[in-house]
Amino acid sequence: MILLDTHDLTDPAFWAADNPHELVDEMRGQGAVQRHESAAEGPLWAVLTHREALEVLGDPETFSSRGGSLLGTGQTPPAGSGRMMALTDPPRHRTYREPVAPFFTTRYASGLQARLRELTEQVVRRALEHEEIDFVREIGAKVPLTIMCDLMDIPDQDRDAVVDMCDRAFLGVTPAERRAAHQALLPYLLQLALHRRDTPGEDLISAFAATLDLDEVVLNADNIIVGGIQTVRHTAAMATLTLVQRPAAWHALGGCADLTRATDELLRWTSVGLHVLRTATKDVELGGQKVREGDRVVVWAPAANRDATVFDRPHRLDLERHPNRHIAFGWGTHYCVGGPLARAELRELFGAMSRLVAEIEPLGAYRHNRSIINFGLDSFPVRLRPR
Ligand code: HEM
Repeated sequence: MILLDTHDLTDPAFWAADNPHELVDEMRGQGAVQRHESAAEGPLWAVLTHREALEVLGDPETFSSRGGSLLGTGQTPPAGSGRMMALTDPPRHRTYREPVAPFFTTRYASGLQARLRELTEQVVRRALEHEEIDFVREIGAKVPLTIMCDLMDIPDQDRDAVVDMCDRAFLGVTPAERRAAHQALLPYLLQLALHRRDTPGEDLISAFAATLDLDEVVLNADNIIVGGIQTVRHTAAMATLTLVQRPAAWHALGGCADLTRATDELLRWTSVGLHVLRTATKDVELGGQKVREGDRVVVWAPAANRDATVFDRPHRLDLERHPNRHIAFGWGTHYCVGGPLARAELRELFGAMSRLVAEIEPLGAYRHNRSIINFGLDSFPVRLRPR
């Protein structure tokens, strides 16, 4: 029996189940690339192995992003196709990526380290003052939101409103509330783009506004906000949940001299960007299957990131794992532009948690979000005990 006939990878409930990875292993055993009839998304190819994942992500000419890079957006092709970084193929893709590349180098992220440390310690100390907190709201995205405001040079008087809009856009209770808050952010970004086009500064919006049309500035700035906040929030929450469930790993984290490897292992383990979508531009063979022009191909990151042909004992959380060729940030042309920043933010967070917090006590049930775009937690009530 083909397991993909009975289990739907595009259903968030699949990933929220107790051990989806056992099933994923069985699926992978049945073939690297398999036909998948998704109830919500229709026919797709599911890529479950690391090698074939790199084959897809490394060949944008054959596997295009223009038809969408994510399932679950409800639009085909999505708004912004051909006009934003994530939804263009080379060579046009460079038009959108190059202006902001200097903000996302490893060197730039290293330069932020002192600020990141100060901000992160502040956030964790503040959380320690409370009897109980929701980790997702009180810790997960606090630093990425502030850094995003720094990168976009959001004026001081607007910061609270922008942070509030982003929080409601991502954590609002109903989809309508989330949509409304997100819609309110776009005119704000447009106004900022207009202002920075006429009076440029040293920030990310000015960098986009120097070469792009105003609507492209808004689309790409929005992409960076969405890409840069939700992903880090969910990785922080899922990684912390992982550590709470494995006290030995939480203890080992405190003993890591350098948290770079631990951060990458937690990125591999959580793989919150569950999937990446591409559309075949021609007939092609992939993992022994005949993919036709126009077919949609979905790379499943948690499956590739636990492929035993690449990762030794893939179901073991090894905070010293090296090398670690995970694809939590994607691969190739669209490799996450914010990867170095995300790594630096998460490294500082795990560092501050292990320095300042002796114990993380879960309180009641955590709640998974119901999304296959970024799979994480909407709520994670905990009590932190200081060291
Ligand atoms: C743990 C945190 C993060 C994860 C897991 C993550 C994951 C990913 C993945 C898998 C891709 C590839 C998408 C594709 O191939 O179509 C990607 C691209 C992207 N990410 Fe991230 N990301 C993270 C943090 C960030 C941050 C901090 C930013 C910005 C501040 C950001 C902005 C973007 C953008 C703009 C793209 C599109 C790049 C392109 O198309 O060239 N991400 N991310």
